[in-house]
Amino acid sequence: MKIIRAKDYYDMSRKAANIISAQVIMKPNCVLGLATGGTPVGTYKQLVEWYNKGDIDFSEVTTVNLDEYRGLPKEHPESYWSFMHRNLFDHVNIRPEAINLPDGTNMDADAECARYDAVIHNVGGVDLQLLGIGNDGHIGFNEPNEAFELGTHCVDLKEETIEANKRFFDGNADLVPKQAYTMGIKTIMQARKVLMVANGKGKADIVKKAFFGPVTPEVPASILQMHPDFILVGDEEALSEI
Ligand code: F6R
Repeated sequence: MKIIRAKDYYDMSRKAANIISAQVIMKPNCVLGLATGGTPVGTYKQLVEWYNKGDIDFSEVTTVNLDEYRGLPKEHPESYWSFMHRNLFDHVNIRPEAINLPDGTNMDADAECARYDAVIHNVGGVDLQLLGIGNDGHIGFNEPNEAFELGTHCVDLKEETIEANKRFFDGNADLVPKQAYTMGIKTIMQARKVLMVANGKGKADIVKKAFFGPVTPEVPASILQMHPDFILVGDEEALSEI
């Protein structure tokens, strides 16, 4: 595990974008695993800036996103499909057919999870997986559990996650979908490199618990302690307890 200390959110975003950029330069046809949420927005913004300057080229890149709400149409502004297009895909030269997310509109959970696992397998697995961390230690939508879920699966979102995400749904928890499809822990652990971004005081306790506490499915991110190439880029506040 490598921990990179950044001064603030902007510095964290630039450092993370640098690592992603290096990956794309080293392997132009790489597979990037991508995340949504508030934390990586600055990282995507930085990548778009460098793309506009001609410093990064996404023409051969394939992406697989971590997760998607179940039951939300793609066009919904808070679907992760919309989020990714708004923050990254619409602004760079990625090929639309190289973009992959779980299909939240497929209500047949078994079929959708099997389809998505096959997609990840067929693109050759993930070269670099970008992650945020939830306040309860979730990665993707892998919530605290009695065991680590392996492949893509359908989850019931925990009350805490619904509360944390209601800011994106007019502050109304009733509007937040109650289920999601998420990549499993095994798939995340099989990524050749894992890059986590964390910022703000609110993440300090969970960062300490996840990376300096026991490895347990009750703190899903703790499994990353065992990953051979895991990088955590955090700002001063998020790393203040370690
Ligand atoms: C989103 C995702 C989630 C977030 C986590 C942290 O694709 O996988 O695990 O990374 O909920 O979210 P933020 O960055 O909003 O604190």
